[in-house]
Parts: sequence; structure tokens; C-alpha cells
Amino acid sequence: MSAAAAVRWIEAWTPEQGSARVRSLFEARFADGAPDGTWSAPGRVNLIGEHTDYNGGLCLPIALPHRTYVALRRRDDDLVRLVSAQEPDGVREVALGAVAPGTVDGWAGYVVGVAWAMREAGLAVGGFDVAVDSCVPYGAGLSSSAALEASVAVALDAVFGLGLARPGDDAGRTQLATICVRAENEIAGAPTGGMDQAAALRARPGHALLLDCLDGSVRQVPFDLAAHDLTLLVVDTRAEHALVDGQYAARRASCEAAAARLGVETLREITVDPRGLEWALDKLDGEEQVRRVRHVVTEIDRVTWFVALLDAGVVDAVGPLMNASHASLRDDYEVSCRELDVVVGSAMASGAIGARMTGGGFGGSAIALVRTDAVEQVAQAVAEAFADAGLHPPAFLVATAQAPAA
Ligand code: GLA
Repeated sequence: MSAAAAVRWIEAWTPEQGSARVRSLFEARFADGAPDGTWSAPGRVNLIGEHTDYNGGLCLPIALPHRTYVALRRRDDDLVRLVSAQEPDGVREVALGAVAPGTVDGWAGYVVGVAWAMREAGLAVGGFDVAVDSCVPYGAGLSSSAALEASVAVALDAVFGLGLARPGDDAGRTQLATICVRAENEIAGAPTGGMDQAAALRARPGHALLLDCLDGSVRQVPFDLAAHDLTLLVVDTRAEHALVDGQYAARRASCEAAAARLGVETLREITVDPRGLEWALDKLDGEEQVRRVRHVVTEIDRVTWFVALLDAGVVDAVGPLMNASHASLRDDYEVSCRELDVVVGSAMASGAIGARMTGGGFGGSAIALVRTDAVEQVAQAVAEAFADAGLHPPAFLVATAQAPAA
């Protein structure tokens, strides 16, 4: 018997709402005038290609309608003053010249880390006042951290006249994405790959971003689910999710050890055919390495097939690839968890076309591709499955491919 369960939706703010919120937060907390402007950047979901970015592989994220907003004002000194709507009191202060790996805790590290990485790249950036607010759910595996980095990056680009964030200037935006990755890796201390920052800065509305992490090149793949009467449902499990807790780093280290043993630069060099994958699996050091490599190599292959199906206009044929991706992440890569498996199981049992965890895993969110007229039914079934399992109620959002940081 199923427990009754309410379905809670997380709505995205309109750009006007988001800008007005950070502008008034800025004016209320700093009490000495207006910001120079407001900027924002999206969270993301990855359609397929998980834990492939740091292996030189392929991934396929879209930018969400849910964005992080900043109001920012340039200063003439070296000071950074920060306020956040999520922190009701106080103003944090950081001297930019004193920023180095290990010196800034918490969310402020993502902000000052971007300015630090810009300076490391030789760009002339100084102090600033910034107010932050977001409708990207935090800790949901939807890249709230990359959205914060990217919104700060385009804001600093504007107020210090760097000229890298012009709409459509993919080379400039690629440089900003690299800066954001350095901020995250070296100042915030999360050893993530580059997918999230690329999505936040280089995605296009109505398209999925096919990112080749070997050389950073991208292809914009048309992705218009509404034209096919399909909807991408995102389920935020609210399960604990932290990329700095060592599990993510352990997966990355395992892939690097496997590549070294195979004598390749990255696992991208291992092809899925028997002479590639079977040869590699034979040479590896133990069962765990075999499973990790099998996931990465087959997952990169699934991205290629997924894109081929999108290109051919048979979007509703991608379901088995999504399910295979989830099984591989669960069984071979071991980054799923009970909540994510409950989403996938209950979504598939209630009519989804395909479902999988998205992002780093260990909690966070899952996605389900659903016929639009079945969205309520699938969401209800997932909420009931959580209630039946005694899990904390999940939250739901609808993902459409939106614009990058601006
Ligand atoms: C996190 C990281 C990304 C990527 C995914 C897994 O989101 O930030 O770089 O590795 O996990 O695909």
C-alpha cells in the first residue's frame, strides 16, 4: 500500500525576480549605495556522460532555468566584502591579496577563488562588494557551486572590463570556465572535472552541450523536448551530497592509477571494442579497477549513441541508454545511493522512458525522461515510493535547456 505524499516543486525565479532580490539584498546589507549591476548563471543537469570529464571523455549537460544571482560593485582597493541571502547576518571580508589554497572556508571560497584565479591568469582584477542569492537548490547535485563561480566570473569580467564573457565568444567563455575550475579545485578544495563550469558558461538555450573533455571543444546539439511531447523531470533526493568528502577524489585517483597502469594519458584512449576494453580490463590491478574502467569506457560510448539518437530525432529512444548509465554508475562505479535508486526504480515503474542519477552521486539528484502528460503521475509515484521507504520527501523540478551566465 502506498502512503499519500505531496509533490513539492522547486520553481525557478524569472531573471527580473532574481535581479531584484540580489539588488535589494545588496542595498540593505551594504547600506552605502547601489551595485554596478546584476549577473546570473545557471545550474545544470547532465543528460548522460557521468564521471567522464576528468577522464578526457564526453558529457552532455544542459543549463537549467534555475540560476544563481549576484549584485556586484567594483572597489578601488583589494578588499572583497560578501553577503548571502542564505546567511541572514553579517558581512564577510576577505583581502584578495591574502587568498591562497586553504585560506578561505565555505561558499566565500567559490567567490574569491574566481578573483584569485583571474589574477593567477594575469588578469587585472581588484576588490569588490558582492551580494548572492540563488534558486539553484544547494547540495542537490545541480552545480550550485559552478553557478556561483560563473555568475561571479561574468560580473568581474564586466566591472573590470576583461572582455571575455561576450555572448557567443566561446573562446573567452572557455577561459572563464578554466578560471572557475581552478577556483573550485584550488581554493574551494573540490577536485571536480570541468563539466559544470562549461555548462554554466558555454551552454545555449534549446541545446545540450556536447563537451569533449580531451580538448575542451563543444558541439551544440539541438534539444527541444517540448517538440516531442517529452519532459525532463529532475528529482532532488535531499540526500546528503558532498564532493569534498573524499569519495569523488577516490574515484578520480582510481581512474588515474588505471590509466598509468595501461600506459595511456586518459581513459578516453580505451575504446569500447574488444581490442580496447577487453585488453585493458585484462591488464588492470584487481576487480575494483576493472569496474571503474568499465564504467568510464562504456559511459563515453553511451554519450555517442545518445547524441546520435538526438541527431536522428528519435529522442524517445534514449531511455535504455539512461537506464544502462544508471546501472553502470550504481554497480561498477558505486556512486549511487538508496534514494537515487528509489527514484529510478519508481519512475520506471510508473511510466518513465528512462531514468538515471545525474552529477557526482552519493546523493543529489536523478533525472527521468517522461511523456509530458505523465509528469504528474510519475512525480506522484516517486513521492509515494519515498514515503513508503521512510525517506525524507524529495523535491521536483522541470529541466529545459536555458541560457548560460550573463
Ligand atoms: C560533479 C563534478 C563534475 C563531474 C560530475 C560527474 O558534478 O563537479 O566535474 O565529474 O560530478 O560526472
